[in-house]
Amino acid sequence: MINTKETPHIKPNGVEIAETILLPGDPLRAKFIAENFLEDYECFNEVRGMLGYTGTYKGKKISVMGTGMGPASMGIYSWELINVFGVKNLIRIGTCGAMQEDIALYDIILGMGAATDSNYGHQYNLPGQFPLTASYGLLEKAKNIADEKGQKVHIGNILSSEIFYNADSTAMKKWQDVGILSVEMESVALYWNAIQAGVNALCILTVSDHLLTGEQTSQEERQTAFTKMMEIALEIA
Ligand code: ADE
Repeated sequence: MINTKETPHIKPNGVEIAETILLPGDPLRAKFIAENFLEDYECFNEVRGMLGYTGTYKGKKISVMGTGMGPASMGIYSWELINVFGVKNLIRIGTCGAMQEDIALYDIILGMGAATDSNYGHQYNLPGQFPLTASYGLLEKAKNIADEKGQKVHIGNILSSEIFYNADSTAMKKWQDVGILSVEMESVALYWNAIQAGVNALCILTVSDHLLTGEQTSQEERQTAFTKMMEIALEIA
């Protein structure tokens, strides 16, 4: 089917976008995934350098696209993918900062729920709090695939923050005390957009830094760790 649709931020020039998409924050990671994991891939977006590709993995059509950082950027791309291009399964594959002692660098976290300091959900004018959750179907598949691979994963609540450099030095301690596993910056917008449209979303994260120990990963080391996460995400598709 020829795709003739376009938005201000995604211009596929006739290239199809698959019903299932992997969403790394970094567009160059999307390129890396297409070049190293997909067959017969074509680029479907270059607007603002936010590269997107569609190809096949084990015979199944799948897309991969960068989202940029923070709820605003993720909000734009995931909204357009869902509401204009009809994407049904959105799997964020990103990095996070660990917030608990039993979580180590390179561990993989499945974001079952997302707490947030963002106002992204205020647009829905709900008369109370709403629990942002991953789609159970995707979460279950990811856990089963990890188990088959003998890959340990942590499953629980993550914090989706809109602030990387937070002036309130006590904020992270408070989230940590209520058991938040790790912090990232995009799942709030992804989960809201998916929930609102009745489609599926999941956030799979690799720990790139540790808020308690101050440890950080190197660029080269990250490559291997990310491969494990990508393989889980690709197998879901
Ligand atoms: N992504 C990776 N590490 C992070 C951190 N420490 N805070 C927010 N987002 C992150």
